[in-house]
Amino acid sequence: MTDFAKLEREILASIAAAKDEAALEAVRVAALGKSGSVSALLKTLGAMTPDERKVQGPAINGLKDRVGAAIAAAKDTLAAHALDAKLSSETVDVTLPVREPPTEAGRVHPISQVIDELTAIFADMGFAVAEGPDIETDDYNFTKLNFPEGHPAREMHDTFYFPPKADGSRLLLRTHTSPVQVRTMLGQKPPIRVICPGRTYRSDSDQTHTPMFHQVEGLVIDKGSHLGHLKWILQEFCKAFFEVDNVNMRFRPSFFPFTEPSLEVDIQCKRDKGEIRFGEGEDWLEILGCGMVHSNVLHNCGLDPDEYQGFAWGLGIDRIAMLKYGMNDLRAFFEADVRWLNHYGFRPLDFPTLAGGLSA
Ligand code: DAH
Repeated sequence: MTDFAKLEREILASIAAAKDEAALEAVRVAALGKSGSVSALLKTLGAMTPDERKVQGPAINGLKDRVGAAIAAAKDTLAAHALDAKLSSETVDVTLPVREPPTEAGRVHPISQVIDELTAIFADMGFAVAEGPDIETDDYNFTKLNFPEGHPAREMHDTFYFPPKADGSRLLLRTHTSPVQVRTMLGQKPPIRVICPGRTYRSDSDQTHTPMFHQVEGLVIDKGSHLGHLKWILQEFCKAFFEVDNVNMRFRPSFFPFTEPSLEVDIQCKRDKGEIRFGEGEDWLEILGCGMVHSNVLHNCGLDPDEYQGFAWGLGIDRIAMLKYGMNDLRAFFEADVRWLNHYGFRPLDFPTLAGGLSA
């Protein structure tokens, strides 16, 4: 005859000793499983006389119920312990600094930022963006722009030439963005209103010159375009770009083969302990060249100078970027120094708009 009390003590002791849910399950199978010790006792009920069963039945079933309840309670306790252990091993230190997401970590180069800014300003005035290749023909870079062969103005450009081809012609790295004027006039009918930002190249290197630099060309061709329009556009541009209410500009007579008359433009500024302010002061800074498009250029580009006239300008992007953002060595722009870029670069999601602010 089985000693129920002894069996129950043994099972309860194993339940108490079970360290995890797997060990507890083993105890359950050994007691209540198909061939478990308690299940074996239950099976003996069938062969008993009714009188025996009346006594043994409640005793065995009571044992089964108590063992079952003890296992269920132990299971809850083990699950709660397991959860506690998991939670304490997975704590998050909320005092740690938040890591920058990748979209925040990169920086937009000041040149790209300034190109975005001036594109936003001129787009607001109805200008489209035109582009041309960095490798140009001598014809587009010089001849069609009214630099005759052998003209001394060609020498002023310190041109990078490619080796001559069989026919003697030489490709070159464009020395200015003006050839995009030619491409635009040859490619579309007036009225024309475009800006052409891009890379330009000259063999020159010091604090304010690099062999590769950036310009933005502007071109307006229509029947009645005149210097008054040009002056207004440049004034509005400077106010918007430098984010000031007033800029004083000085237009000086100059010479470019592709414009007649030709002008250079200075803006009035004040330099004070490394800071620069526009619209006041005694200093004048040259920022661009401009003029009425020469009738020879119109003619070379298939337009009738008696019907159309227009104006153009060429502005140094690097120069105005240095002025606006207080950088004094142009060479640093192209040294790919991440520390410089972290300091002077712009956040990628702060896209400049006139409504939202250009440099905010
Ligand atoms: N292409 C000239 C340069 O690089 C700048 C320039 C002057 C462009 C006058 C123009 C202009 O369109 O009208 O020196």
